[in-house]
Amino acid sequence: MLELCISRGMLLGAAALSEAQLLALWQQGEAQALKPTSAEVLGPFFRKGAPDNRVLRAPGDAGFPLNVSGKVCDTRGRLIEGAKVDLWHADHHGLYDTKGYRYRTKIAPDAKGLYAVDTVMPGHYSDRPAQHIHYLIAAPGHKTLITQAYFATDPFFEGDPEKNWKKRNIVGNKDLLLPVRLYEGANGAAPHAEITFDIILEKA
Ligand SMILES: [Fe+2]
Repeated sequence: MLELCISRGMLLGAAALSEAQLLALWQQGEAQALKPTSAEVLGPFFRKGAPDNRVLRAPGDAGFPLNVSGKVCDTRGRLIEGAKVDLWHADHHGLYDTKGYRYRTKIAPDAKGLYAVDTVMPGHYSDRPAQHIHYLIAAPGHKTLITQAYFATDPFFEGDPEKNWKKRNIVGNKDLLLPVRLYEGANGAAPHAEITFDIILEKA
């Protein structure tokens, strides 16, 4: 197809370049595109209709306070307008709220393309014993993505996520295993953890 574009004058070199050079340049540009975030299973606990809630952690909730944030962009790194991020996870004890919307939200990233949620570190449950946060991300003109974020600090990975990320075939792609940053609480508040999960969507 590219050869056809070149022969018909639809792909032109800015400088005098041979067809082979044009092809190589094009392929180099494509290779620089960002890799779309990989998909994971939806799981049985998704609920439609979550409210737009940025604070999922209620006072007194058990669990390590956790800030989750990131941006939603295309494979060229451009922020996608009109994206909606559904995010849900188990509570500290590994239980999902299947009747209400605790630890569930559907948010629109802000004008800078950023989404941010204040929550707690998800607990473990026996069916999928690695801590995780579920995501469903939809955006106009892009493929809807269902995925999950995992924690490199999770005891499930036995302190060596590089070696153990494939354990029990839970994590489908190592890129979904995220480093955790730890912050001191200001003014005597409890410390909190933070992960950044940037989402890259493919064009539809
Ligand atoms: Fe889950």
